[in-house]
Order: sequence, then structure tokens, then C-alpha cells
Amino acid sequence: MLAGLRARPRAVPARWFYDRRGSELFEEITRLPEYYPTRTERAILEAHAGDVARLAGPGRAVVEFGSGSSAKTPLLLAAVAPAAYVPIDISGEFLRESSEELGTRFPGLPVLPVEADFLRPLALPQEIDARERLGFFPGSTIGNMGAVASVDLLRAMAATLGSGSMLLIGIDRVKDPATLVAAYDDAAGVTAAFNLNLLERANRELGGDVPVDAFRHVAIWNDEASRIEMHLEAVRDIAFTLGGDAFAMLAGETIHTENSHKYGPRDARLLLRSAGWAPLAEWTDPDDRFALILAEARTEPAAP
Ligand code: AVI
Repeated sequence: MLAGLRARPRAVPARWFYDRRGSELFEEITRLPEYYPTRTERAILEAHAGDVARLAGPGRAVVEFGSGSSAKTPLLLAAVAPAAYVPIDISGEFLRESSEELGTRFPGLPVLPVEADFLRPLALPQEIDARERLGFFPGSTIGNMGAVASVDLLRAMAATLGSGSMLLIGIDRVKDPATLVAAYDDAAGVTAAFNLNLLERANRELGGDVPVDAFRHVAIWNDEASRIEMHLEAVRDIAFTLGGDAFAMLAGETIHTENSHKYGPRDARLLLRSAGWAPLAEWTDPDDRFALILAEARTEPAAP
């Protein structure tokens, strides 16, 4: 965080969003009228969970990366008749709550939570050693990473899940900029509060006097990079301390807080192939806003 604030352009890791308050605000975002990804992905899953089940077959261990509140998981679990469910999340509190809930909803299904940062190598519970795996990575979380980090992560997932595994991934589509910007700059100001909460958290956890009211939330579409960018822009000249370091910003200077990449159909398939995942099937909504892709861990045959 501090190194990012010193860098030019200033940029801080998006994981700073997700303290308790930030996670709650994100849940609120997913219910906003402008934020189409969550409900669109849910509708696609409702319509096609049966197709996923047919292609994946029963008895797999479902491993969810970044399960959060696991809101879409029951749809998948109900369809695929899994042998176990392994939610992985960095927030132990969220993980325990949602695991309990799922345990009650699916009695008899072993729920084996793993509290870990799935961006780093991790071990899956021994109980699923003998099971083929179905990875689940919904929400277009992959979009929050850049090209290199996305491929690294997808490769790491293939390594973690092992041969014979499949991955069901949600990927947000490129679309008209007005729809995209509205999704990240909603009328009720929830996304603004989510972005600004990062500064509140920094003040609290690093010890600081960042004047949060001197910043405004900015969301822009960067067409060249195919991404929505979120920034915090200083509305006046300010000076503050954080973690014992002194900082000064001029009015109009920004802190880059998040990227959310959007993919065309071919881009998404190429991304998966680049990381050792061969796309098997793809489902979208009638307006082609969002895609759910089922892929299989398999390297592409070399060109003839
Ligand atoms: C978690 N992630 C996929 C969200 C997104 O759409 O990039 C985070 C988010 N940021 C602002 N609104 C939602």
C-alpha cells in the first residue's frame, strides 16, 4: 500500500478493498440495478447448470476459488451431484459462515473449507485426493488481474486441481462503455463508498490521517487496455501521513485502485488456452453481457 502510494502513477493493490466493511459493500454492489454481472451470471447458471452436470459427470469435488458468500454455489452443487465441496477464501469469517450455511442446505455433502489466498500455491484437503475436481471461479474475478497474472493464476489452478480437472469460470464481456461505466459508478454511490473505504481502512490499519473527504470516486473505460479502471481523485491539494510516511497530492492527482478487464468471446477462449485450459462449452445471456465457460485441463496439441 505505502509503496503503491509513493509510485508514479500511484496504484494500490485491489485486495485492500476487502475488509469486513468492504466485503459487505461489495455484496451490496452485486444487488445494484447497474451492476449486471452477478445477476446475469446467476441467470446463466440457472439455465445451464444441468449442461455443466452432463459434461462434468457426478462425483467430482467442487473447488471454489474466492468463495466469498458463495451466493451462486447452491445452483451448481444442486446440479452436479458432487462428492465434496471445497470453498477457498482469504476471509476466514466469511468462509465459516457460508460453509455452515451450505452444510445445512446440503446435508451429507462434505464441506471442507480452506482459508487461504488462492493467488499463492495451496494444498487441497486430503479427503478429496481420489476425486476428480471441478474448479469454480465465478464473478469475473479473473478480470481484476492483468494478462500475466491471469495466465499465472489459471495455470496455478490447473496445477492445484490436477489432471482430469475441469474449470467453470465466469468472464465479463466487452460491451458499450456507458453500461460498463454505470456498473462501476452507480447512482446510489455504493461503488464510490466501496472505493473510498480503502482509504478508511488504510487510516485504521496503518495509522494515518488521510482526509477521505478530499477524494472522489472515478470509474473510466480504458478501451486500449479493455478494462474499467477505478481511481480515487484528490479534489484539492492535500498532505497526510500514513504508516509513519508523509504524502502530498495535488488536486486532480489520482490513486489507481482497481482494474476490471472485459473480454470478447475469442479473447476469453485464448486466455484459457494460454493457461492450459481447453474450452469445452460456453454459455451466455441473450444480450451476450457475460459468459460462463467450462474448460478442461489439457494442453493444446502442437500445430501440424
Ligand atoms: C470482484 N470483482 C469481480 C468486481 C468487479 O466487477 O471487478 C469488483 C468490483 N469493483 C467495483 N465493483 C465491483
